Amino acid sequence: EIKEPFKGKRVLVTAGPTREELDPVRYFTNHSSGKMGYAIASAAKKLGADVTLVTGPTSLQVPEGVFVENVTSAKEMYDKTLSHYSQQDVVIKCAAVADYTPVTVHANKFKKKNDTWTIELKKTDDILQALGERKEHQILVGFAAETEDLETYAKDKLARKNLDMVVGNDVSKEGSGFGSDTNEIVMIKRDGSMKPLPILSKEKAAREILNEVLELMGR
Ligand code: PMT
Repeated sequence: EIKEPFKGKRVLVTAGPTREELDPVRYFTNHSSGKMGYAIASAAKKLGADVTLVTGPTSLQVPEGVFVENVTSAKEMYDKTLSHYSQQDVVIKCAAVADYTPVTVHANKFKKKNDTWTIELKKTDDILQALGERKEHQILVGFAAETEDLETYAKDKLARKNLDMVVGNDVSKEGSGFGSDTNEIVMIKRDGSMKPLPILSKEKAAREILNEVLELMGR
């Protein structure tokens, strides 16, 4: 086995949540801690890759030797990820990107008035979709975080977004998904092959994901 199988390869990982601003004091976000994405970035670095980590706000320390791009919103993550795309050999989209963002961002703090408050949201641009459409030589890996029908939704994302592999993540299971130190994933490739894994530390899950990527690269 080669010690640094990713030597000379560029790997971009996205991690963490995004924040969608509503006014100067409020935003929409989700429970992503960044642990899974950072574990992938760290493992890829150890395996010899040149790693770029595009990360939303987290409390984690950037793994040593990893180039980091800090972003806040889905729009910023879109722009930064796309700007690095052509130079990458592998892109792994682990971030939990907001699907919707407020139509209006209030310049001043929104004052309390009525008993109910309706906020209008619009769809964000799908980063993975954009990467799939612009794919040339890159290996593109997406995640699918689901609470039901994991396999169906994961396979749908694989095909629709032109991915090489999708990592399905049942986020309703105890010790799996958002925030935990462990994850239970299933990897599905374009040839239809499926690799379900037991619950593993996010570090071990990261290694499994990268092993499959190496196989896709023919290494
Ligand atoms: O960060 P942790 O606390 O360690 O948790 C890990 C995790 C649960 C966040 C991670 O394992 C995971 O499942 N990440 C994907 C979360 C997600 O947003 O899944 P999704 O099914 O909503 O999105 C599918 C894919 O589309 C993802 O690769 C996502 O990055 C991408 N996407 C989504 C919306 C958007 N506007 N652009 C995107 O690229």
